[in-house]
Amino acid sequence: MGRLGDDGPALNEAPRLKDAADATAKPDSIRVGLFFQNFPSAQPKNSLFAMPTLTTQPPPPAAFARRFPRSPAPPPRSQPLELPAISFFGRTLAEYAQFFALDVTALRKRDVLDVAAGPSSFVAEACARGIAAVAIDPLYTSAPAELAARIAADYTHMFAQMRARPRLFKLKSFPSIDAAETDRRLAAQRFLADFGAQRFYGRYVGASLPRLPFFDGTFDLVLCAHLLFTYAARFDFDWHLAACRELARVSATEVRLHPLCGVDGKPYAGLGRLRRELKAAGIASELVRVNYEFFVGTDTMLVLKRASS
Ligand SMILES: C[S@@+](CC[C@H](N)C(=O)[O-])C[C@H]1O[C@@H](n2cnc3c(N)ncnc32)[C@H](O)[C@@H]1O
Repeated sequence: MGRLGDDGPALNEAPRLKDAADATAKPDSIRVGLFFQNFPSAQPKNSLFAMPTLTTQPPPPAAFARRFPRSPAPPPRSQPLELPAISFFGRTLAEYAQFFALDVTALRKRDVLDVAAGPSSFVAEACARGIAAVAIDPLYTSAPAELAARIAADYTHMFAQMRARPRLFKLKSFPSIDAAETDRRLAAQRFLADFGAQRFYGRYVGASLPRLPFFDGTFDLVLCAHLLFTYAARFDFDWHLAACRELARVSATEVRLHPLCGVDGKPYAGLGRLRRELKAAGIASELVRVNYEFFVGTDTMLVLKRASS
């Protein structure tokens, strides 16, 4: 039995514990902990489930502190030319499956984390297919109406930018920008419906790289799209290194990152150094070509594996 199904628990019911007979099982304490973050008055004292509240991010308890990087994320330095901020923008499971080269059927009952998930419908669609998927984004501390307003503004801006720069698009994965807009607006609608229903049950977690509120090796697969490298003008090299190490820490098997270029379509300048420093930290990396290219230069992903995995 998978831990997550299509539906969360009823309002007065704690999240289900995973079937002990499931060989792929991991402790459910992290998601139960997330439940208590949303209902702090229900949180037992001195419990395994006692966790920091993500919305306010107090110092983590001693049991967690050793797993977090010591320094917080540096402040953003400058804004990218085309985009006024980090867009709250998302995609469907079908598009994720292309740029991450996913075998969706093989992921059934696996624990999958989507970091910087935005208004993607990947997690909603994955859970509907029996994948135990969780999404992370700093904006998930917002109310659904606030996110709907943010989506309306960012999508209008984003598609105007795309139409103003048609030469930056290869359109291998969609026949036109119109088709991409229809698909991605559908993704956002699916996200909003699922977020409204599931946000109190640990499927959507408000948190930011480079600190993730999960135990080491919690997820079979960790995905992160359109944050690292895309917004290289906002986050410096040290942030990228800390983010990669944190993504690898919470993964049991591997991390996939996409794309490896910035908003100008040029490869991330620090990629070689990043891979060398990750290797020195015991994290192997591999560049993999994928059967996808919408924005120019988006036909690769980076796969990270901890030496111990
Ligand atoms: C362009 S969206 C990408 C959404 C999705 N991954 C995709 O590929 O369609 C980037 C997301 O990163 C989120 N974000 C910004 N800063 C972040 C951080 N420090 N850690 C994690 N996510 C962050 C934003 O809120 C936004 O939703």
